[in-house]
Amino acid sequence: MTLELRPLSGSVAFEIHGIDPARLSESDRSELRQVFLRHSVLVLRRTRVTPESQLALATALGEPEIHPIAAGRLDGHPAILVPKPYGVQASDDPDEVIGRIPWHADLTYTTAQPRGALLRAVEIPPEGGQTGFIDTVAVYEALPEAQRRRIEPLEAIHRLSHAQRLLGLDMNSERTHEVARRFPPVAQPLVLRDPATGCRSLAVSPLFADEIVGMDRSEGAALLKELEAFATQEHFVYWHDWREDDVVIWNNYRTLHAAAGHQQKHVRTLHRATLKGETTFGRILAPDDEHEG
Ligand SMILES: [Fe+2]
Repeated sequence: MTLELRPLSGSVAFEIHGIDPARLSESDRSELRQVFLRHSVLVLRRTRVTPESQLALATALGEPEIHPIAAGRLDGHPAILVPKPYGVQASDDPDEVIGRIPWHADLTYTTAQPRGALLRAVEIPPEGGQTGFIDTVAVYEALPEAQRRRIEPLEAIHRLSHAQRLLGLDMNSERTHEVARRFPPVAQPLVLRDPATGCRSLAVSPLFADEIVGMDRSEGAALLKELEAFATQEHFVYWHDWREDDVVIWNNYRTLHAAAGHQQKHVRTLHRATLKGETTFGRILAPDDEHEG
């Protein structure tokens, strides 16, 4: 087999042809793994993937793992998650948009970021519901040299509570506090080096990172905002318009993603398999007391 990659958008996403996920030979598996490590997003079309073949595909790319907090597991397949829209339903208006998620890499508020994930479209809304992707290796390489040198030694502080606030969760609820308490803040390098490829990427994860270690709080937040604005420029972004039976695979060590959201009158069902990270990044900081008050 020879895989064929067709670019969908710059260097961010590639449609992949020449494999049948239901019948992967040993050489398919190793070729696929190498392609996966060197790209941000791969898209398979019209796959007719089942939960079993989705997990077989995941196993070719790495080791499936169970997400530590997300609810909604597929019956009989605990490694497949059926994500529910985050956030708070503000009204009964059927046109209201739900499920919007700001730019992030997964689980950067822990030291155990997953290597990636495979998302399969089961039922998609007639409009909206796109998933956005950014290749953060391309972003890092496009930064001015002086900026790259400046951020190389820096660490950002990632907090689940920052995401809870941005997603509009009730910050006074016991449940919100209980979840946040399980995850003390984590300092992550701002430039992440993938040990498998040596590629460097800009590791901003705006949903979670809100401060820079050793920097005044507002100065750190301003630097993170500046990097976020650079990374999310239109020419870096690919919005995936889902078709049924698409499988989208992203490499979480070099990708930011976001959800556009969809009107709550429409159904959007995806099946997600997550790939365990091969290493750890960052370090756990002492818990801060902001969740207590
Ligand atoms: Fe995510």
